[in-house]
Order: sequence, then C-alpha cells, then structure tokens
Amino acid sequence: MSRSGTRPAATRHIPPLGGSRVYVRHLSLADYRNWPAAEVGFEPGPSVLVGPNGQGKTNLVEAVGYVATLGSHRVAGDAPLVRHGEPRAVVRVAVVRDGRELLVELEINPGKANRARLNRSVLPRAREVLGVLRTVLFAPEDVAIVRGDPSERRRFVDELLVARTPRYAGVRADYERALKQRNTLLKTAGLARRAGAGAGDLRTLDVWDGHLAKYGAELLAGRLELVVALAPYLERAYAEVAGAGTAGIAYISSLGDALPPQADGGPDREVLEAALLAELARLRPAEAERGVTLVGPHRDDLELVVGALPARGYASHGESWSVALAARLASYELLCADGGEPVLILDDVFAELDSARRGFRAVRRFRAVRGFRAVRGFRAPRRTASRRTASPGPQCGRAGRRPRTSAGPPWPLPAGPPAEGQPPPQAAAGLPATASGGVTPVPARTSATRSRSAT
Ligand SMILES: Nc1ncnc2c1ncn2[C@@H]1O[C@H](COP(=O)(O)OP(=O)(O)OP(=O)(O)O)[C@@H](O)[C@H]1O
Ligand SMILES: [Mg+2]
Repeated sequence: MSRSGTRPAATRHIPPLGGSRVYVRHLSLADYRNWPAAEVGFEPGPSVLVGPNGQGKTNLVEAVGYVATLGSHRVAGDAPLVRHGEPRAVVRVAVVRDGRELLVELEINPGKANRARLNRSVLPRAREVLGVLRTVLFAPEDVAIVRGDPSERRRFVDELLVARTPRYAGVRADYERALKQRNTLLKTAGLARRAGAGAGDLRTLDVWDGHLAKYGAELLAGRLELVVALAPYLERAYAEVAGAGTAGIAYISSLGDALPPQADGGPDREVLEAALLAELARLRPAEAERGVTLVGPHRDDLELVVGALPARGYASHGESWSVALAARLASYELLCADGGEPVLILDDVFAELDSARRGFRAVRRFRAVRGFRAVRGFRAPRRTASRRTASPGPQCGRAGRRPRTSAGPPWPLPAGPPAEGQPPPQAAAGLPATASGGVTPVPARTSATRSRSAT
C-alpha cells in the first residue's frame, strides 16, 4: 500500500480565519423523529441545546444536517426520520447569509421522492437545495472514522470532498455505476466458467476497465489533493483538542507501489488513469477468479496516525475520540478557508471527560467563541445533561450555488417560521414556553454558567 499526504511540513501555510456571516436563524419540524412539532430559534454565535437523555436534541441537529446533506449521520435511509406512525416529515430551516434570509423546506417522504422548496418556490429536484446550507457535524458515531472499517474513512473523505467540490458527487456516482457493472460482468463470467461454459466473455470488460480507470483516477486525484490540504488542519486541530501529542493523516491506495509519485503541482489524472488501467490488466485473472474488482478507490483507506502509531488498533479510547473530533474540526476549518460557509454542529462533544475540557478549549479557539447561548427549555439533571453546539461559519468569500426554482403546486406544509425579529409561533413540544411563547436563546453569560455546571 502506498501512502500520500503524511504529516505536513511545519511551514505549510494555513489561511487566517475571519468573522461569521452565516447562521441558522430558525428550525421548524413537523413529525420529525420524536417531534410532532418544534420551533427553535437561534441567534448568531454558538448555541447549546441542553436537556435530558432522549429529549430529542440529537434529532434537532440531525434535522439541520439533513437540510445540508439530504442524509442523516445516524441512519442510511429516511424511514426512521419520520415520526412513528406518520406518513411524512417536514423540516424547515431559515438560513441567514450576509443579512439575507433563505428559507429551505424539505418534505421527507420515505419510499417516494422528497420535495423541496427554496423561499417558497418548489425546486425541480430536492438535491438542488444542496449548497444553500453547509454543515460539519461531529457526533459520537464519528469514532468509527478512527476505529471502524475502511468504508467509514472513505465515507468521511468523500463527504468532505463533495462538500468542498460538489461536482465530485457526480464523479462518485459514475465510478460506483462502472464498478457495479464491472463486478456483475466478472461474476457472470465466473459463474459461466464454473458451469463449464468456458471462461466466459470478458472482452466487454475492456470497456468497463476504461470507465473505471477514468472515473477512478478523477476520484483518486480529488482524494489525494484533499488529504494533502486537510493534513495541516488536522495536525493543528489535534494539538488543540488533545493538548499534547501529534496526529497525521495519510492516503492508502490499493494501487500499492504502482501509485505514481506525487508531482509538486498535485496528482496528474492521466498518469493515475494509466496506472489504474495497468493494474486492472495485471489483476484480471485474479478478479475473474474471485468475481470482484480488486483495485480502485473503493478499496482504498485513510491512515490516521497518533504519534508514531496508527490510530486504528493502537490509540486509546480518548485518543480515538480526539482524532475523530480533530478530523471534523479540521474539515470545518478547511471549508472555511475555501469560502464554504459551513455551520459547525457538535453533538455530545463533551461526553468524554478527559477530552471534554480540552475539547472545550479547542472549540473556543476555533471560532473565537466568547460565550455560549443555551436554548431555553432543555432542562436536564446535572448528570444526564448533554450539550450540542451549533456555531456559524467564519468569513467566507464565495456565495453558495443558487438552485433554480419554479412556482409549483400547493404544498401540504404547515405555516412557516416567523419572520426575522418576530417570536416563533409555538414552543417546541415538551418544552416550557418562554414569555414570548417560543423557544428562544438566553444571554451568553447565563448559558455559559449552565454549561459549566452541567459538566
Ligand atoms: N421515528 C421516530 N418516531 C418517534 N420517536 C423517535 C423516532 N426516532 C427516534 N425517536 C425517539 O427520539 C428520542 C430522542 O432521541 P435523541 O437521540 O434526539 O435524544 P437526545 O436528546 O439526543 O438524547 P441523549 O442526551 O441521550 O443523546 C428517542 O427516545 C427515540 O426513541
Ligand atoms: Mg443525543
């Protein structure tokens, strides 16, 4: 296996950070998870959701993440997102960017196409909302990035790749299609051979080798570039989170020694394509025997390193947690540096006591946080309290992609969130209403005190 993007030189430049411009002003839910209805208002700057176990805090931040990615960080399909017994869920998010508000509405229909509106106009396809809101979400499940199978790390790197450069969503889909076709051909040929019908016709494979190498080289080049770009941020984030020690990241290619050396200007797609083609040709007899494609980005991995040792198999629980958190914080910083305007969501970031205190320091530094606002209504006994923060992104130069919109048929959606400056129409179910009847932020000082006392 070949490595790329190992620990960067200390001199590598990390662009400076700016001030925040993007935040989620309001979240409305209807029949989402355990919420029949929820209206939650946020203000610029970090917010903390505090409450007892099972109240629905993760569900709230999951819904925000869903608007950004059209997927959940916890489940593969949409069915669990809809309140048990209900046919559909609705998520609405009012995003403020540079003082201008964008209202994204998603109707989640498991088994059917989801529907999306932007500023009340129906979008031709739900995926056109991608790019309106970008999030980086850290959750306890992220420890799988460090300890889980290679597929978890590939998912991490590909999600970040797509968040950074959305066209890679298409490259990935093309690659996966070519891989599926090629594997089907290999399996059919293998079955034919075992049934005594000769070696099977493997000539069509040449065509699929070409597709696989083309899209594979594109995806591989994107990942290699990404790992090199992410490495200095990861190193810095880990130092902040862990307080001591170092962490690094390397790309492990299934090309092994056949991975061409990296040129100064980044990976050369044509050279990578030729290398993949040559390796596919070399491995074809073994692939025909086993009925699977043995080389390509689908068999690659990332190596996360703590000190001198691979994190997987060596790092302690706390170290694994710190690397996973550092990977998300580094992703956030990288997207910020690119002008990606992400919102940072940290779910149960303080759950590991040792990392918690250090992580808190890191989070403060990461966005020059001067205090947290707690969302009122989530009251928890000290020992069961957990926290969520959602902080707005930094100064980001480039405006996000604006999807096309069209006037569409009426929607079975409840009334939207209140206009800016107006109180929310109702409190989140199960939460005590505030004087204005909504779930509203409280001043930073109060909530900072509450956060500390719940640790
Ligand atoms: N589709 C659904 N329909 C109804 N309830 C659901 C659905 N999916 C999840 N729930 C419920 O949502 C509840 C809240 O889950 P959530 O993970 O958001 O809690 P939490 O406040 O983050 O708790 P913790 O502090 O333990 O992390 C759970 O009790 C779960 O049973
Ligand atoms: Mg939770």
